[in-house]
Amino acid sequence: MTPIPFNKPCLVGQELAYVSQALASGWISGDGAFTKKCQARLAQSLGVPQVLLTTSCTHALEMAALLLELEPGDEVILPSFTFVSTANAFVLRGAKPVFIDIRPDTLNLDETKLEALISSRTRAVVPVHYAGVGCEMDSVLDTARRHGLSVVEDNAHGLFGRYRGRYLGTFGRLATQSFHETKNITCGEGGALLINDARLIERAEIIREKGTNRSRFFRGQVDKYTWMDLGSSYLPSDLLAAFLCAQLEAADKIQAHRRRVWEFYQEHLLGWAKDNGIPLPCVPPHCEQTYHMFHLLLPSLAQRQAFIAHMKARGIMSIFHYVPLHLSDMGRRFGGKPGDCPVTEQISDRIVRLPFYNDLTEADQMRIVSAAREFRIA
Ligand SMILES: Cc1ncc(COP(=O)(O)O)c(C=O)c1O
Repeated sequence: MTPIPFNKPCLVGQELAYVSQALASGWISGDGAFTKKCQARLAQSLGVPQVLLTTSCTHALEMAALLLELEPGDEVILPSFTFVSTANAFVLRGAKPVFIDIRPDTLNLDETKLEALISSRTRAVVPVHYAGVGCEMDSVLDTARRHGLSVVEDNAHGLFGRYRGRYLGTFGRLATQSFHETKNITCGEGGALLINDARLIERAEIIREKGTNRSRFFRGQVDKYTWMDLGSSYLPSDLLAAFLCAQLEAADKIQAHRRRVWEFYQEHLLGWAKDNGIPLPCVPPHCEQTYHMFHLLLPSLAQRQAFIAHMKARGIMSIFHYVPLHLSDMGRRFGGKPGDCPVTEQISDRIVRLPFYNDLTEADQMRIVSAAREFRIA
C-alpha cells in the first residue's frame, strides 16, 4: 500500500530551466531579473501598486509590523485560530496581540466581535483569509475605518481568491503572501508583501534591504547606499524567485487542478458527511476560494483523533490544524485563558485536513474518500 502524504511539492513547468537561467546570468542574490519578474507579474495580475518578494510570509508580516511603526503597548487584533507568525510579527515590535474568535462557518475572524475588542491602544487588525476564503471585508474595513485602524491581510492561503469580485490582498494597507512548500504556488520557502498604500513603498524597500537604500542605488537613483532605518534581510535569492516565476506562470493550470481535487472531495464526501453530521468547508457565494485545502469538522476531539488514526492505518496522512494561540504558553502570557474564544477552541479540536497537492491523482483521491467513508462516528 503506497502511502499518501498530506502534501507533496511538485514541478509544474519551467522551474529547473529558470533556476539554471538564473545561475547562468551570474546573478543569484536578491532583486535579480526573476525577482523583478515575479513582483511585476503579481502586481499586475492583482492590481496592487507594489509587490516585494520576501523570504517568507512570516518576514512579510514582520515588515508590515515595522511599517506600522507600532510601539510597546499598542494592540493588534488577530484571530487566535491562525499560524503563530500572524501574532509573533507584531509581538516582536512590543505590541500586544488581542485575540478575536472565529465564525463557525468559514472559520474566519468573526467580524461581529471586532468592535468590542477595540481600545484606545488598538492600532491594527489582521484578517486571515482561512483556506483562501475571504473574511467579511466590508464589515472589517468599515469598523477599521471608523476607528482609524490599519488593516493587514494575512493572505498566506488566499493568493488569487476574491471577495465580492475583488482579489484578496488588495483590501488592507498591506497584505502578505506565503510561497511555503504547503501553498498552492511555492518556491519551498518564500513570501511577498503587497503594498496597497503607496506611501509605504519606499520605506518597505529600505526595511527589506537591511535598513539601507540599496534598492535606490541599484536603480541609479543615489550614487552610494547607506543605513537609513530599521531593517533586516528579507530579500530572497533570485534562485528561489526563478523557481517561483515558473510556478506563477503556471498558476491557472495549478488552480484548475486544485479545483478538481477540491470538487472531487466535495462530491464524494457530501452524502457521507450529511449522514454523519460532519460539516464540509463553507464557501459563501460572494467568495471565490483558492482551493487551498479541504477540511472536515468531526464531532469531537476523540472522534477527530480516531479519524486521523483510521486514515493513517490505511496509509493516508490527514492532519489537524492550528492550536489556539490564546491558549499557547505565549498566548497565556498575554492573558489568554480557556473560554476566551469558544468557537476557536472547539474547531481546533474538531478539524482535520485531507491530503491536498497539485498532482494528487483521482485514484489516490478515491482511496482517500473510500477510507473516510468507512469511518464510523461512534
Ligand atoms: C495564516 C498563515 N500565516 C502565515 C504563515 C507563515 O508562512 P511562512 O511559512 O511563509 O512564513 C502561515 C503558514 O502556513 C499561515 O498559515
